Amino acid sequence: MFKKKKELKFPTHIAFIMDGNRRWAVAHGLNKMLGHRQGAVALKNLVEDLCEIPEIKFASFFAFSTENWKRDQSEIDYIFQLVREMIDESEEKYVKKNIKFVPMGDLTRFPQDMQEILVRVREKTKANTGLVVNLALNYGGRADIIQAANKAFESGQPLTEEDLRKNLYAGDAPDIDLLVRTSGEERISNFMLFHLAYSELYFTKTYWPDFGKKELFKAIESFTKRERRFGGK
Ligand code: FPP
Repeated sequence: MFKKKKELKFPTHIAFIMDGNRRWAVAHGLNKMLGHRQGAVALKNLVEDLCEIPEIKFASFFAFSTENWKRDQSEIDYIFQLVREMIDESEEKYVKKNIKFVPMGDLTRFPQDMQEILVRVREKTKANTGLVVNLALNYGGRADIIQAANKAFESGQPLTEEDLRKNLYAGDAPDIDLLVRTSGEERISNFMLFHLAYSELYFTKTYWPDFGKKELFKAIESFTKRERRFGGK
């Protein structure tokens, strides 16, 4: 495993914009949907790798944005099927590895059976105390802030930062320390805007299906060399 020098600061919360699935497939002469399938495998493997790094307590993944509904229905259906399969199959592992699974986003637009799987695994793992896996589905960063503000407003009191934070889909997750985006694109794309305020950003040309343990360590190594000032000196 990755040996850490004592003084190095690791991220507590790491986030991933998983990009480049279809380009990966095209580059391999495969049907684009197989890029998503391989992307799901990469995600599964990465969760296992993250479990081996105790300093990392939260991992957030952008799986399906509010803009992704514009894709062909056949592609949407394919991604949904992958989500069903992956989360259903992962339930046992999440329980065994003490992982807390948190689907983030408005789930009500998904097919009923898919919602049921997501909610079942969320409920089954909600008391777990190990790695928190936030999976963004039908998620937009602005929509997240708006729904959190609306919930927080119900108290009738002036809002504080913490009121807002605790009502976000990610619940008690702290700010993101390190955001990784694959495939050479260098954008935030309306991901977790509130949590990204002071994040370090790491971009790699590697397509998501090829993002494995070695790439993860490169990203973490880069993070350990950053000087974070949070607006201070
Ligand atoms: C971006 O690549 C990826 C997505 C929009 C979907 C992400 C889906 C997965 C990682 C697999 C399924 C997820 C789960 C949770 C099982 P792209 O399609 O935009 O690729 P491109 O940029 O090369 O066109």
